[in-house]
Amino acid sequence: MNFLIIGDVVGRSGRNALQNNLKKIQKKFSIDFTIINGENSAGGYGITGKIYEDIISWGANAVTLGNHAWKKEEIITYMQDNPDHNIIRPLNFTEDSPGQGYKIFTHSNGERILVSQVHGKSFIDLPLSNPFEAIDTKLLSIINDHQIDYSFLEVHAEVTSEKNGIAQNYDGKFTAIYGTHVHIPTMDARVLDKGTCFQTDIGMTGDYNSVIGMKKENAIKRMRSESNIPRLEPAEGEATISGAIICSNKGQKSTIRSIQIGGVLDRNLLS
Ligand SMILES: [Fe+2]
Ligand SMILES: [Fe+2]
Repeated sequence: MNFLIIGDVVGRSGRNALQNNLKKIQKKFSIDFTIINGENSAGGYGITGKIYEDIISWGANAVTLGNHAWKKEEIITYMQDNPDHNIIRPLNFTEDSPGQGYKIFTHSNGERILVSQVHGKSFIDLPLSNPFEAIDTKLLSIINDHQIDYSFLEVHAEVTSEKNGIAQNYDGKFTAIYGTHVHIPTMDARVLDKGTCFQTDIGMTGDYNSVIGMKKENAIKRMRSESNIPRLEPAEGEATISGAIICSNKGQKSTIRSIQIGGVLDRNLLS
């Protein structure tokens, strides 16, 4: 099975790139299942029901979130009105949080795929339970009890060491563990000792001629003045779709390959 994972889609530029290129990428690399992080897809902050449905219609099977999950509050009502949705938010949000931290999908070939997400705690100003404890108590038994064939753990976190710590701790337990949130891809995609595919961060799907997807002029003004004005807005140039392709088949060693398609980071992978 070939899996495509795509990092944080930022604003209209990121959405346009998906709409124009996702099907081509899926065809070129014979993708069977696609997971896309949509936490920044609506104006850079959060996601709406309409945008979620667009991302699914362009080819995603599952949409993950992160610290910006509820910035557009209407997504909470959308999830309640559409209980079969394929939106996954961090598993270690507080117990009373809406939504789900994992979901099991059954592919048309009958194989079962678990998609899950946890949030790192370092430098994150959110009420979160311990991600290790959440994985230990809520995920590992699911993988065993539900005969999961392929399992994906997205670690949405600020700090590279935390992502590496979680990945090394659960090496061999998941098909792939990968980071999002930083919006810059790391070049360490590899298979860990016990067979889990890993990349510290798969980057964003947005305009990299920016400051992590936001218009650079505004971001620089804020940094220089040490204030939170002006408002940050998504950059509007051509987006790079950044993510990874994971090939995994029972009884064989898995592989992972980082991809960047379009925009200023394009690596000419579609031609
Ligand atoms: Fe993000
Ligand atoms: Fe984030």
